Amino acid sequence: MIETAGVTLERAQRLYEEFGADLARVKRYQRLLYSERFCEKRARARAAVLQDLGADLLMPVGFGQITWAQFDDLNAELTYLLLRAERPEVVVEISPCGGWSTSWILNALRDNGCGHLTSFDVIADSVAKVPADLADGIRTFHQGDVRVSPHIPERIDYLFVDSDHTGAFADWYLEHVFPRVRSGGTVSVDDVFHAGGPDASGGEGTVVLRWLEQRGLDYFTAAPSVNRAACAALQATRRRLGLDAPIHFSETNPAIFFAMP
Ligand SMILES: C[S@@+](CC[C@H](N)C(=O)[O-])C[C@H]1O[C@@H](n2cnc3c(N)ncnc32)[C@H](O)[C@@H]1O
Repeated sequence: MIETAGVTLERAQRLYEEFGADLARVKRYQRLLYSERFCEKRARARAAVLQDLGADLLMPVGFGQITWAQFDDLNAELTYLLLRAERPEVVVEISPCGGWSTSWILNALRDNGCGHLTSFDVIADSVAKVPADLADGIRTFHQGDVRVSPHIPERIDYLFVDSDHTGAFADWYLEHVFPRVRSGGTVSVDDVFHAGGPDASGGEGTVVLRWLEQRGLDYFTAAPSVNRAACAALQATRRRLGLDAPIHFSETNPAIFFAMP
């Protein structure tokens, strides 16, 4: 059954309770994956060694990728929990970069035993960095500019957006991707509420927030810059359940989540 309850603090807290044991296991998995492939410090150190060793060699394509995790813990956990609750069939990710958000999404689909993820990025790092046994059979990746891709599904159950943060890019997806999200489907947009406000990361945030306001739509965010109480309440829930050990922690939690009308 597909749940279409929208995204609220109370629902998020309930989902932490309901899927807490699974989330604890997935966090153990993600912690290992992070330290192996997504930690920025380690990735940079490894790239420096490879560059040194291979300075006079013709390196294979993709060798020495240095993309790292960008999606923060709290928003990644909320994504996992919402995917578990909603059991979507068609999930779209714009964009994976190295695939940190991808790995969270795929863990949820694996645990659900249903659903397929289609990801779009101009770079293909995530193909190598996301473990094959996590992605096999449930993920399709399309390399290139998503704005000209013929592969965007006609009907989307869950849309994850963390890509080009310009207002122009937001204008594009509002017109071409949002109408494909089914009514009640969840949409998340990362990097809306950084410390500098919604315009700080390129203009996308302002465009999306205006779109929501014009339609009278609510959204949920755990960004302390706009919703300190929700952030504190979720952190308290995580602490109480023993789920607060950091992997890729940030203080900003800049994503927004909402249900498509
Ligand atoms: C902020 S990163 C994504 C981080 C990722 N979600 C994570 O969890 O680590 C943004 C990505 O968007 C991609 N991107 C930017 N413009 C794009 C476009 N027009 N089409 C496809 N991908 C694009 C970039 O190549 C980059 O990898």
